[in-house]
Amino acid sequence: MECTSFPETPMNDPRTRAIHVEPPDRRLIPYQRPQPWGMAPDLVIPDALTGDERLWAPVADGICSRPLHLNPLGGFYVHLLRVRRSGLLQRHRHSGPVHAWVLEGRWRYLEHDWIAERGSYIFEPPGETHTLVVPDDCAEMITLFTVHGALMYVDPDGVSTGYDDVFTRIEIYRAHFEAIGYGADYVKRFMR
Ligand SMILES: [Fe+2]
Repeated sequence: MECTSFPETPMNDPRTRAIHVEPPDRRLIPYQRPQPWGMAPDLVIPDALTGDERLWAPVADGICSRPLHLNPLGGFYVHLLRVRRSGLLQRHRHSGPVHAWVLEGRWRYLEHDWIAERGSYIFEPPGETHTLVVPDDCAEMITLFTVHGALMYVDPDGVSTGYDDVFTRIEIYRAHFEAIGYGADYVKRFMR
């Protein structure tokens, strides 16, 4: 069977697509057409790394989470994890990919010899099980996590002891915002 080939026009020829330049009088014209029907509105959080403690939900002793983007349809959530205690946090297995960017402090997994330090980017592949530890000399770590799917909390033999996903996170944030007087629906401003 023959592969379909597209005609070489300026639109689909990668050589011209990469260097396509608009005439100067058109460069600063905004897109003039409507956005697609059904598109979700964009989500902008000006002060993601906020010092406003009300926006950090306590999730465990010494551990807070600042929601940034909660997406039930995509099955993922983006949050800032802030830890102000050292030692073992938890052991978990991922069903989906995770992206992490360390903004402050450092942490490691018992299963690896690398250390995630301020400025590090980490990709956690689906299927991996690891045990998160914050070293004793780290007073505070803050990491941006994009978590797809579920974290399944497990014992050292991989036996499941619980889980977290975008839905459990939404419930945590709803309870927090209700408790501080913002109302549970405050969480909607982080949802798409
Ligand atoms: Fe993880």
